[in-house]
Amino acid sequence: MKHITIIVLLVGLFPLVASAETVWLDDLNLKPIVQGWGKAQKNKCAAKNPEEGKPLSIAAKRFERGVGTVAESVLNVHLNGEATAFSAQVGADDCKRGSTRTSIEFFVIGDGRMLWRSGVMRTNEAAKACEVSVAGVKQLLLKVGDAEDGDNDDFADWADAKFETATAKTFQTSGEPVPAPVAPYILTPAAPPTPRINGANVFGVRPGSPFLFTIPATGNRPMEFSATNLPSGLSVNPKTGRITGTLPAKGEFIVTLGAKNSLGSAEKRFRIVCGDTIALTPPMGWNSWNCFAHAVSAEKVKGAADAMVRSGLINHGWSYINIDDYWQNHIPTDEKDLQDLVRPFRDDKGFIVSNARFPDMKGLADYVHDLGLKIGIYSSPGPTTCGKCAGSWLHEEQDAQTFAQWGFDFLKYDWCSYSSVTDGTVPNPLNVPVRKNSSNDDHAIHPFKVMGSFLRDQPRDIVFSLCQYGGHDVWKWGASVNGNSWRMTGDVNDSWRSVKGIGFNQDKAAPFAKPGNWTDPDMLIVGWVGWGRPHPTSLTPDEQYTHISLWSLMAAPLLIGSDMTKLDDFTLSLLTNDEVLAVNQDELGKQATCVMKLSEIRGMVADVRVYEKELADGGHAVGFFNLGTEPVSLEFNDFAKLHMSGKQTIRDLWRQQNIATLDTVKDSLPLAIPAHGVLLYKFITAKN
Ligand code: GAL
Repeated sequence: MKHITIIVLLVGLFPLVASAETVWLDDLNLKPIVQGWGKAQKNKCAAKNPEEGKPLSIAAKRFERGVGTVAESVLNVHLNGEATAFSAQVGADDCKRGSTRTSIEFFVIGDGRMLWRSGVMRTNEAAKACEVSVAGVKQLLLKVGDAEDGDNDDFADWADAKFETATAKTFQTSGEPVPAPVAPYILTPAAPPTPRINGANVFGVRPGSPFLFTIPATGNRPMEFSATNLPSGLSVNPKTGRITGTLPAKGEFIVTLGAKNSLGSAEKRFRIVCGDTIALTPPMGWNSWNCFAHAVSAEKVKGAADAMVRSGLINHGWSYINIDDYWQNHIPTDEKDLQDLVRPFRDDKGFIVSNARFPDMKGLADYVHDLGLKIGIYSSPGPTTCGKCAGSWLHEEQDAQTFAQWGFDFLKYDWCSYSSVTDGTVPNPLNVPVRKNSSNDDHAIHPFKVMGSFLRDQPRDIVFSLCQYGGHDVWKWGASVNGNSWRMTGDVNDSWRSVKGIGFNQDKAAPFAKPGNWTDPDMLIVGWVGWGRPHPTSLTPDEQYTHISLWSLMAAPLLIGSDMTKLDDFTLSLLTNDEVLAVNQDELGKQATCVMKLSEIRGMVADVRVYEKELADGGHAVGFFNLGTEPVSLEFNDFAKLHMSGKQTIRDLWRQQNIATLDTVKDSLPLAIPAHGVLLYKFITAKN
């Protein structure tokens, strides 16, 4: 009787104890799981907080055991050849049942080979049975992809997931595999001592606006600059290379820029277009946010401007020095280091005032202009910015005037607290469109239209940078509100996941990118970054090559996010490759798109993506990106996919060297692409 009681008790306590041959996935250490957001959970659907998770359920079928996760999710199980089979019921969890945003795909990868994949799955779809032999497999990757449409509502369950093994045991787990470490290596050749004129071939200005363009040229100093055929109203300073003045009326002017030093001279054809459109090539510069965040000050901004000149970046076309949030006063706060910013937002007449760390905005703008650079500022259409400083709500016209009077050339306009307007939680005296009354996107477009039109009324050109994280298909209407660029996502950070997630998902906006209108995948995160606590970027050298190459191919605004006083040689080499920058600044203004994906190479799982951008000179810039964690090599011969025929000369843009001339019908191009790295080539049709 006693024995029976003990057995009953034990069975009651451990009803799901594995048989000797079964190891349950949910019994393994799940902590290393890396996923899109939230936390993976044992026997529950994934959640932000462990207590939130609901029981696992796929298409109304409950599962007692398993792991709930969110795409993109990776768990590396070290089987070490000791398991024979893996099985699971997989599908989208019902915690977002019916969501049209859910789309996921499960992958089981053994030692680099695809053993099983589910195909794209959505909510309400019955669980799929995954049964695979894992005999001999050392490392098993359990992955859930986001079906390449972002990770919104992507709850994914590995239900009833278990391994069969000869002896009962557990397996070690780890997170996402990372590439083997590589030391920084410089590919960019040093600029020659003889003069070379770099940067864009075109510059746009509006009639009557102050003109400032500094001829970007490398080579020994002193250098003498010239600009022949300048239209009347403009003149060039031969010592500084700055072209200034104003153009009274619309027109297009072809100018020859010149640069001369003791070793030689250089010339370049340059087009000045006086018309409605500015930012004819993507803005290139620096922004304070990714390094200084709330700790920015006028001194730091001046320091960045000085470093832009001292480092020589200005000689490669870098020209904007942009102040992000925290130049304004702040709402009352307990935060100790913000006390000096707790002051009234505006003066008696409603004009915005800068905070104590920015005592003289006009003086600061003059300082930056005197270096031959331009200056940018930041605001929000809401009552406050994201950092809870003064926003432009109900003062849009005054702010546009103030920014122009101070001498600003660029405005980043960040949605932030504007939701309090569209939600109706702040008084709305002007009766602007709010969410509940709008059957379309008017409420979301309106604030940008307002500021866009006030900026246009100013007597100087102010590049208008929209920041609302890609909502309401901004790429479709950004140009109609005078926007010059539009952020596509939330904030980037210096991780591979972030760069990959943002960078390789922008094709939808490509048809809308053109001179004056650019897709903005957020600022650069090379060098010292860290939002108030700068540290060297966590990206590997190859990830940094990928980042700069991809942003260049995308014709994205290039805004350096690092502490400019801490630029090391490697970072500088990434930012001063004129052939790479020329891809970004190409005057045709096309955004590269992904023309090809390779998911398997010689039987091994791979993730190679090929991006192509048409260039003004008829050439094509092509990026071969390896998103995998192992280097790949392949013989590439699918030139038709790159829209190429005949004989092509191929130039390696990072190395600035021609590497081959080949016949696209019969030849192939050997590619060896580093893990998380890139080969950035230009294809030029060869003369026979
Ligand atoms: C975020 C924006 C960042 C930065 C920050 C300032 O919304 O995405 O780039 O501007 O606000 O508070």
